[in-house]
Amino acid sequence: MKNIKAIIFDAYGTLFDVNSAAEKCKDKIGNKWEGFANYWRTTQLEYTWLRSLMNRHKDFWQVTEDSLDKSMRAFDISTSMRSELLDLYKVLSPFKEVPEVLKILKERNYKLGILSNGTPALLNELIESNNLKNTFDDVFSIEEVKIYKPNSKVYDLPIKKYNIQKDEVAFLSANTWDVSGGGNYGYNSIWVNRNKNIFDNLDYKPSNEINNLKQLLDLV
Ligand code: LAC
Repeated sequence: MKNIKAIIFDAYGTLFDVNSAAEKCKDKIGNKWEGFANYWRTTQLEYTWLRSLMNRHKDFWQVTEDSLDKSMRAFDISTSMRSELLDLYKVLSPFKEVPEVLKILKERNYKLGILSNGTPALLNELIESNNLKNTFDDVFSIEEVKIYKPNSKVYDLPIKKYNIQKDEVAFLSANTWDVSGGGNYGYNSIWVNRNKNIFDNLDYKPSNEINNLKQLLDLV
């Protein structure tokens, strides 16, 4: 990849492990914790897409709560767990290689940004609770445009701020639909495929696929 000026990361699922909240409660939830975590995540994303299509925006924290309530009913999880799960969602753990890779990229002088569905307050809490303050040049939230990914207005945000070309961005996401969204928009999208998943048929195939963020260091 040549002429990359900015490296932009998706947050949830890419830098931070969305399953870590339910995993930290697995003693209380039992074996179904992983199915529950996946259902919560899928429902949360469906709500973002549906709200954007219905033109009825609610911020990502409200969507996270709404999707949790449905998921707890679906998996018969006691409502007494609700506040614990939500508190843990605010301080999700990063994937283990993330802090070191970000440090090396920063030394290489790229613009480093997050581009996420999360609210600014949520994203800042994640960054601070994981000691990643001063790592990112910018944290772009869809709250600036009040429509969720993969709307192109979202992917416009870093381009407008940095006044650069779309193909000067390396965009990393573990979410296949987000890789497709960024790629169709014109970014160099890189798929972080941690779990040997299958890619989408949405008019874009990334030229680069990595298993973890360390491999990014050989690409840029
Ligand atoms: C985000 C979701 C898509 O951080 O993971 O935007």
